[in-house]
Amino acid sequence: MNAASLAVPSRALILYSSVTGNTRRIAEALAASSGDSLLDVRHLEALPDADVLALGFWVRRGQPDAVSQAVWRKLRGKSVFYFGTLGAWPSSAHARRCREVAEQVLHENGNRCLGGFLCQGRVDPNMIALSARKGTHPLTEERRARLAEAARHPDEADCAAAVEAWLSARAAAFEARS
Ligand SMILES: Cc1cc2nc3c(=O)[nH]c(=O)nc-3n(C[C@H](O)[C@H](O)[C@H](O)COP(=O)(O)O)c2cc1C
Repeated sequence: MNAASLAVPSRALILYSSVTGNTRRIAEALAASSGDSLLDVRHLEALPDADVLALGFWVRRGQPDAVSQAVWRKLRGKSVFYFGTLGAWPSSAHARRCREVAEQVLHENGNRCLGGFLCQGRVDPNMIALSARKGTHPLTEERRARLAEAARHPDEADCAAAVEAWLSARAAAFEARS
């Protein structure tokens, strides 16, 4: 724990959706640094009590995964920070659109979006092979290089950047609510 995490009480929840483990790795880093509870969205039985939430998702078809969105659409009046992993470059137009969808869904029902974090995550090789076979995403040189880079993420630097963003969003949220 560092000074920022000690400065606020632990009343936040980290809720994440992850199929191949990339987003879970970021979620675990956030929990380890803040001491907040960590929950896989598949184990969510009722809507969370916590007012401050970090919501983790993986990108599917250019948006936060459907399981995440279904839960987000039920949230009311929360302070929320989002984090996600994707195969695309985090600075791409594709990633920007993912952020826009995430923020739009989170803003619904009076939730306050505290900002977010995106980084690359290794894409399942079966999925790459399948889309190459179908011809939906030809394996161009550019795509090959991007997927090779994605395979190295999330890394330590991604986790550290996500932690920094979460701790500052979390501190601001508790300050605004106190
Ligand atoms: C079915 C499927 C669809 C995907 N669609 C996208 C996409 O539209 N854009 C993208 O950048 N990455 C896409 N990806 C890559 C994942 O978002 C990426 O590998 C992510 O890190 C997976 O997270 P997880 O390990 O937490 O499940 C897709 C992966 C799968 C398996």
